[in-house]
Amino acid sequence: MKSEIKLLSGAMVMLGLSTSALVVLPYLQVHDAPPSPGLKPYTRAELRGREVYIANGCLYCHSQQPRARAMAPDAARGWGRATVAGDYAYDAPHLLGTMRTGPDLMNIGVRQPSAQWQLGHLYQPRAYVPGSIMPSYPFLFDTKAQAEAGDVVLQLPPGHAPAGQVVVARPEALDLVKYLQSLDRSYPVLPARAAAGPAPQGDRRAVQ
Ligand code: HEC
Repeated sequence: MKSEIKLLSGAMVMLGLSTSALVVLPYLQVHDAPPSPGLKPYTRAELRGREVYIANGCLYCHSQQPRARAMAPDAARGWGRATVAGDYAYDAPHLLGTMRTGPDLMNIGVRQPSAQWQLGHLYQPRAYVPGSIMPSYPFLFDTKAQAEAGDVVLQLPPGHAPAGQVVVARPEALDLVKYLQSLDRSYPVLPARAAAGPAPQGDRRAVQ
């Protein structure tokens, strides 16, 4: 009986310690991180696009968290600098992701700003990247015999549009691409702030 109590209280202590280290301390450190100075709030269209991103499970294959140079070659892959808490100030819920079946998308807006490429790639990834295992999302598009006024018509590589028809982006696809284009965390963060001149008063860390 005595050893059972020891075992249980030991387990509770371990649970308490790990909850503090993994949940409570990180929360205290970053829960009120202000937006990074270069970060723009999402527009309404971008927020709608973010919902489309969530609804279609993009985050099951794509992360949004380039890691530091010391931890992974993400910068060498062209995915940008390591993100900081302030880069996610407008992300609720955040879409960090845990899987990288496809590339990290935190800076896809810098890497691939072309709306036509993004739309076409969503319609048929294999039209742009032969052998891609990314699913196609044809339900975000309409096929029509003829485009109407105001339609955004896809300029697909030859052979990928249905014969005699045009492929037109639905509003969900346009919003999703606006969201992808907004994924740009390429502005400088900590090192540039230190180089920008004297630290604001009261920031003791910078004065020491
Ligand atoms: C089953 C996994 C999977 C899912 C789900 C998925 N992707 Fe992908 N994605 C990939 C792979 C693999 C690649 C790399 C090959 C390619 O470019 O097609 C990729 C590439 C991309 C790229 C180009 C990245 C670059 O660096 O060139 C974008 C943009 C993208 N995906 C967006 C999306 C969006 C938006 C969704 C949701 C609508 C989505 N993906 C869903 C696997 C996936």
